[in-house]
Amino acid sequence: MDSLISQLEWSGEIINKSGKQKVGLEIASMVKDGDVLGVGSGSTVYMALLAIADRIKTERINVKAIPTSLEISMFCSKLGIPLTTLFEHTPDWLFDGADEVDPNNNLIKGRGGAMFKEKLLISASTVNYIIVDDSKKVEKLGTNFPIPVEVFPQALLHVEKGLKAIGATAVKLRPAKGKDGPIITENGNLILDCNFSEMHNELEKDIKTITGVIESGLFIGYNLNILMAAN
Ligand code: 5RP
Repeated sequence: MDSLISQLEWSGEIINKSGKQKVGLEIASMVKDGDVLGVGSGSTVYMALLAIADRIKTERINVKAIPTSLEISMFCSKLGIPLTTLFEHTPDWLFDGADEVDPNNNLIKGRGGAMFKEKLLISASTVNYIIVDDSKKVEKLGTNFPIPVEVFPQALLHVEKGLKAIGATAVKLRPAKGKDGPIITENGNLILDCNFSEMHNELEKDIKTITGVIESGLFIGYNLNILMAAN
């Protein structure tokens, strides 16, 4: 009998994306037997996982995935990709997507609200591949997306004040999708989407120093390999 997870459908976002499929295949071709992979979020990540699952089935390679979200965990389970955790393993390498990338390979992530675990895994992994297409390229971060900040709920007002003190011009509580109230992250926290008057290299650190901030979706000065998917 089918398991509950195998009944789930992930069709919408991952079909008809040939450029992403190509990069997904490229990612899958880099997987070596025995690798522990950090797995980010987004549609290109799904494409890569489909191709990796195919290699696991056909070549019987032994791979373990450390997922950055519950949704990705379930997708891996559906595809038969074994899971592990940061308690047991450090990723050999990681692949993920991004919402914006600037000319210095700095990023904004967190559209899916999983930036805390994404940053944790990117920091834990020495080799990171970030898959984007042209639409993600910006001259200046913050052009198309605000900077998401995950906040401990009781610290909401304190963090809002702190963010404004370091230059936030707009701070919005991210609403839940399709229902009333705010979005609650997998860690039980809230997300503030912020615009800043000035984008500078210390901003990620400045945000992190506010007590009550769990993490932001700003990635400045990380050693990242950017893979471009054709549109
Ligand atoms: C979520 C992210 C994703 O990686 C980002 O949204 C990319 O998604 P896609 O590959 O579908 O464009 O940062 O927190």
